[in-house]
Amino acid sequence: MNNKIVGVLYKNLIKPALFQLDAEFVHNMVTQIGEGLENRKWPLGFLLPRGEKTIKKNILGLEFESFVGLAAGFDYNGHLAKVMRHVGFGFNTVGTVTAQKYAGNKPPRLARLPRSKSILVNKGFKSDGAEAVAKRLDGKRLEGHLIGISVGSSNVPDVNTINKAIDDYLETFRIFKDKPYVKYFELNISCPNAVMSESFSNLKNFKELVQAVASCGITQPIFVKMPNEIDFDKSDTLVRSALENGIRGFIFSNLVKDRNNQAFDKKEIFRVKDVKGNFSGKPTAENSKRLIKHTRDVFGKNVVIVGCGGIFSADDARERLSAGADLIQLITGMIYEGPQLIGEINKGINQ
Ligand SMILES: Cc1cc2nc3c(=O)[nH]c(=O)nc-3n(C[C@H](O)[C@H](O)[C@H](O)COP(=O)(O)O)c2cc1C
Repeated sequence: MNNKIVGVLYKNLIKPALFQLDAEFVHNMVTQIGEGLENRKWPLGFLLPRGEKTIKKNILGLEFESFVGLAAGFDYNGHLAKVMRHVGFGFNTVGTVTAQKYAGNKPPRLARLPRSKSILVNKGFKSDGAEAVAKRLDGKRLEGHLIGISVGSSNVPDVNTINKAIDDYLETFRIFKDKPYVKYFELNISCPNAVMSESFSNLKNFKELVQAVASCGITQPIFVKMPNEIDFDKSDTLVRSALENGIRGFIFSNLVKDRNNQAFDKKEIFRVKDVKGNFSGKPTAENSKRLIKHTRDVFGKNVVIVGCGGIFSADDARERLSAGADLIQLITGMIYEGPQLIGEINKGINQ
């Protein structure tokens, strides 16, 4: 369907209706509809917006047909691995996947902050578990799709030391590393909602993790999912350590924790004062931009950078690319602006 029509329908009819419903309920419903379209159970494919993919860019040996990827957290169990390409995404991250199944943190786990253009997230690596996700993806025909797996350590009580968490990360890598459809990995060291994840933003633990990952025979490129609220020096030491272990990709960045972030509407952030979680969208944008520019300035062509956080338009995407990003990823922009945003960005970047 024409992007302009999808945009008008989304903003005036679909979004107002969906935003009346619980955010997690809507996400589950969209996942079911998306997978139904994928399996052609429902002949509604004509409703999809036009992806408008045009580029062919070779990065780390992979051919990208669009600069725009789906960030980790929207398709966390791999239900939408095929259909997202038709919306215009050039690459699609599944996950974060963990070795053990986890039902997620206690609800409520999602809340919308529309004036702040943000989403409160507290999923904590809700996951069907790596074996189950791999089995689901094994059943899809994914030739021609750029699928990546975001790997985290299981957010369960018995994975409670650095060594156990590293073993747990490695288990997921082992399950996916020989799958022909897995074209890249993300190493998630920055989820503020999972107990062990952020321990790996500490240099000593990070070094142990990347050394272990580098020695387990992974042939696909790896992108480290970096924290949002990290100072330049600390970020640089993590980048250096990853480079020493052959990891060249970095995604700036994950969610924001600081509720005093200037991008929040004061009333809105007060309304969720008793709800646990961290934030996507506009509040992530400034730090993400700064980190992209800084990392490009310091490390030049040695790094591949994915800009992620607060991208709501083709102008936002262009800004990240001119700051130094090679590619971009998003979730929240699609939720607030509509699925035609991806095609609009693809078209806008190519002009
Ligand atoms: C609902 C939701 C779930 C998320 N879950 C994950 C996750 O499992 N792993 C991860 O690395 N990032 C996760 N994120 C963070 C996003 O990948 C992204 O870094 C962040 O939202 C900034 O991008 P955005 O402003 O385009 O959403 C999640 C974000 C949202 C909105």
